[in-house]
Amino acid sequence: MNGIDNAVAIVTGASTGIGHAAASRFVEEGARVVVADVNVEDGEATVEALEEMGGEAIFVETDVSEWSDVEEMVETTVDTYGRLDFAFNNAGIEGANGAASEQSLDNWEQVIDVNLKGVFMCMKAEIPALLESGGGAIVNTSSIAGVVGFPELSPYVASKHGVIGLTKAAALEYSGDGIRVNAISPGVVDTPMVDRSSEASDTVDQAIGATPIGRLGEPEEIGDAAVWLCSADSSFVTGETMVIDGGYTS
Ligand code: NAI
Repeated sequence: MNGIDNAVAIVTGASTGIGHAAASRFVEEGARVVVADVNVEDGEATVEALEEMGGEAIFVETDVSEWSDVEEMVETTVDTYGRLDFAFNNAGIEGANGAASEQSLDNWEQVIDVNLKGVFMCMKAEIPALLESGGGAIVNTSSIAGVVGFPELSPYVASKHGVIGLTKAAALEYSGDGIRVNAISPGVVDTPMVDRSSEASDTVDQAIGATPIGRLGEPEEIGDAAVWLCSADSSFVTGETMVIDGGYTS
């Protein structure tokens, strides 16, 4: 992919799943990667794996719902690598299931803080560093739950719809400064998040049944799209949401 070699990318939620896959693809394309996550053990293992691939990477313990952590994530990136070119704001949680009237206020706050406020705060901290670098690209992880509704998941659905709104607004604000901002909306992807959900219900069987391609997505199929949206190969794409769902919402 064009324009990734030697660039510097932050990937939040890169300890496992989609973020881990995107970090690997960034390294394959020659980028230096900041792995930012609350999960220290898997984050450090991700960095080791990226180094074994011949890449350069650091782990920065980051809770994206804490402004001081997010500021430090960007500061450490610029201190270590001298610049920031790309950000994949991907960290997210599913929260508890339940109809809206049964959802706890705590669950609402937790899901919105990580999935929506977290993406907002990451962009707020990253954009000045991207401007300093003369431009760049941001990709935010939404979901098919950001495009259509799902019952029993109102905080998650609201947070992921919000991510698409944030993405569009920021794309309009910064397109003149050489910063493109896009979102990806994965369908059901084989990651630890889905493993956790399927412990509680028959999510996987239902998802496969509702997916015309007839299987779960692989994390690499989403990570590759995120890296493409950062690359110069997508230079005329901004404010867009790429749905990657095996036909689920078609
Ligand atoms: P995952 O659970 O493997 O990855 C999420 C990562 O985010 C984990 O490494 C976790 O430690 C990290 N994280 C959680 N809270 C955090 C916080 N406060 N600060 C920093 N890091 C935090 O799951 P997956 O599937 O890779 O999820 C990645 C993104 O993709 C999430 O935003 C999720 O909502 C989204 N997504 C996933 C789908 C799926 O079917 N797996 C479908 C649609 C969207």
